[in-house]
Amino acid sequence: MDASGFRRLWDEIAGIGLADTGGCLRFSWSAADLALRDWFDAQAAERGLRVETDRNGNRYAWWDLAPEAVVPPGAAPDRRAVLTGSHFDSVPHGGAYDGPLGIVSAFLAVDELRAAGAEPKRPIVIGAFTEEEGGRFGVPCLGTRLMAGVVDSDRARALTDPSGTTLADAMREAGADPDALGPDPERLANLSAFVELHVEQGRSLEAPVGVASAIWPHGRWRMTFTGAGDHAGTTRLPDRRDPMLTFAFAVLAARKEARLAGGLATVGRVEAVPNATNAIASQVTAWLDSRAPDEAVLSEILTGFESKVAERAKRDGTGFTISPESETPIVEFDASLRDRLADLLGGVPVLPTGAGHDAGVLAAHVPTAMLFVRNPTGVSHAPGEGASDEDCAAGVEALAAVLRDLAC
Ligand code: GLV
Ligand code: MN
Ligand code: MN
Ligand code: MN
Repeated sequence: MDASGFRRLWDEIAGIGLADTGGCLRFSWSAADLALRDWFDAQAAERGLRVETDRNGNRYAWWDLAPEAVVPPGAAPDRRAVLTGSHFDSVPHGGAYDGPLGIVSAFLAVDELRAAGAEPKRPIVIGAFTEEEGGRFGVPCLGTRLMAGVVDSDRARALTDPSGTTLADAMREAGADPDALGPDPERLANLSAFVELHVEQGRSLEAPVGVASAIWPHGRWRMTFTGAGDHAGTTRLPDRRDPMLTFAFAVLAARKEARLAGGLATVGRVEAVPNATNAIASQVTAWLDSRAPDEAVLSEILTGFESKVAERAKRDGTGFTISPESETPIVEFDASLRDRLADLLGGVPVLPTGAGHDAGVLAAHVPTAMLFVRNPTGVSHAPGEGASDEDCAAGVEALAAVLRDLAC
């Protein structure tokens, strides 16, 4: 695989959902998502792969053992498929590589295997998972969480995007059936391994390719600050109950508690009501994202944060509530698979990540590993995210070697 071969296929999707900020708007079930799904189907058709969409809207392209050999539920262990792939969806104005790199690389790895005359003894499946970022409906890894049965399907159907559209309505509008959402244990039982290739996101990988050891525990919390809307020009300072003030304190407190405990905390999204320059806000809604190397540190951040902000709200005469939208425990990837991959690839670096992935959800059900491709700036979830074509080609080769090892 050479760099130009990677670039040719990569460029086919480069313009889909591209915003004038240089970032991507690829929200699940949007027109951009449907265009990416069409592209996926066309790539599968070109390679004679069988396309399937599961009950949760995740799309697959199957390289079956033989046209008639569709793996039945309850397949014998030596017939269970090897799954690879990632997600198409992006955060608002996110980078192009987070997610799609794993899908494009998977098609190219299949090409590599075929060019080398490989004969899989297990099906190889390319997956494109839905709503990994939670960029539209708020819950990350929604497609795989539904599959694994860790998100309730009624709750999922009722999730809303920033315009108030429910997931159920968005799916219907896109021609999908929200009533089908739910656990898919047979699908999980028919997998022998999952390998997600992903751009590295933390300025930590100095070789072209690495292997993941663990994903930090992390979560998202919705915070509501309530106060009294009033006139900016006529309300004396002592008479105010300004939720924006408590919110501002919370942003600083998140940073301070994370620093003291040794983890991370971010407030990256906020909505004020009525959002007027000359009115004191009546309500502020904001989201906290926090992550840490272990669960004790994560809970220390949250406990410290909640008590400091509650105390401050009392002083400000405002209301403060906080509730989890998603919580994900630490994920330690399958040690034998991790070591097998690192050895196979010639002793590449093995590193943890603070970013969440579908691999983290599926790891509870299937032996799972991740390959990382070097990101020269480390920037991610922003337009500057990237990787060189040479490193992406090295990633494809590594993925092909891994699939050959696991499936052939
Ligand atoms: C998703 O990529 C996340 O880590 O938030
Ligand atoms: Mn991702
Ligand atoms: Mn991401
Ligand atoms: Mn992610």
